[in-house]
Amino acid sequence: MAQFDASARMFVRGEGNYLFDTHGKQFFDAISSVWTILHGHCHPEITAAIAEQAQTLDHSTLLGATHPSAEELADRLSDLTHLDRAFFASDGASAVEAALKIALQYWQSNAKPERTRFVHLVDAYHGDTAGAMSVSDIPAFKSRFGAITFETQILDDAFEDGNVAAFIVEPIVQAAAGMRIVPRARYESLKDRSALLIVDEIATGFGRTGTLFAFEQLDLQPDIVCLGKSLTGGALPLSATMVSERIYDAFLGAPDESKQLFHGHSYAGNPIACAAALANLEVLERSRSLERTTELTAILQREVAELKSLPKVRDVRATGLMCGIELDPQRFDSNHSLTPGWSVTNALFERGHFTRPIGNVIQFVPPLTSNEGEIADFCRSLAEVLG
Ligand SMILES: Cc1ncc(COP(=O)(O)O)c(C=O)c1O
Repeated sequence: MAQFDASARMFVRGEGNYLFDTHGKQFFDAISSVWTILHGHCHPEITAAIAEQAQTLDHSTLLGATHPSAEELADRLSDLTHLDRAFFASDGASAVEAALKIALQYWQSNAKPERTRFVHLVDAYHGDTAGAMSVSDIPAFKSRFGAITFETQILDDAFEDGNVAAFIVEPIVQAAAGMRIVPRARYESLKDRSALLIVDEIATGFGRTGTLFAFEQLDLQPDIVCLGKSLTGGALPLSATMVSERIYDAFLGAPDESKQLFHGHSYAGNPIACAAALANLEVLERSRSLERTTELTAILQREVAELKSLPKVRDVRATGLMCGIELDPQRFDSNHSLTPGWSVTNALFERGHFTRPIGNVIQFVPPLTSNEGEIADFCRSLAEVLG
């Protein structure tokens, strides 16, 4: 923050794949506003759905009541995930937090209260709230907060199977770890398990890896799926924790049994956000976005492949439209006041591309509506900067 200059990065408008600053200069949103924007900014169908819903029912609680947009969206998401029930919240971390609590309570209701442990991937990231942080594994995000996190286990290490409440994994790619691609073999043990499986599709969901959900490519059968980010196409905060009927049933009982999940947020399943999500899913289906993603993936792979040979590039990792270009910090001037990652993304910004680094990894996660020229132009600019 000491180096952040608000006046230099003040976006006042978004249209299609571009953000516009106060001077009217346009920037290609090469990071899809942190993996949220799917069909470009201010998509007319999504903004129209928002406007219509805002004029009809702005908000009503999901605590002991419901509304048509939440009902319809829950049904749509059930069809898409093959999980039966939806628990709504606003941010991704809230969906993860709910998933962890649902898993714990599920085992209590099933007379296995000893199942309290969570197992995650090495280098995992599931959000910044206390529970989500606990099942994450990136020191920068959690090392200072040991006082409010709980102990967890890593999938590759030995653990007591009978104590595990749930495995939680990011499918295929660990975005926050710097677009790390997880070897497929690492998911094998999850196919035969007694604990629950939580798949976190917050970064990968809704087409970014080429299929609607990344877990489809891994042949996993999750019990719980967390959705967020692109659920509304990037227009509004909304997340969902999808669960199977078997899990849902564990929360049903007579009032004096208190089996319900004592967990909820004021704006959970806000009608305007749900309407945006419904419009987003409509656009996703109608505009053949998944087919387009397959075509774009081939273009992206071809263009980023050229970057691999640059001396300042240590590695290039990509799956679908999620790509990370890792820089070799030893090839950069160590006296520079900025990290290599920031000096490169700042130079890209001057050339009209907006992204940010994760450490020394340059993120390239273009919207699904990007075209060949935009992808090639970003890669050309990056090659120029690194040259
Ligand atoms: C895999 C994954 N899970 C959870 C989250 C947290 O989502 P949010 O930032 O909406 O809380 C993120 C955010 O980047 C993520 O990448």
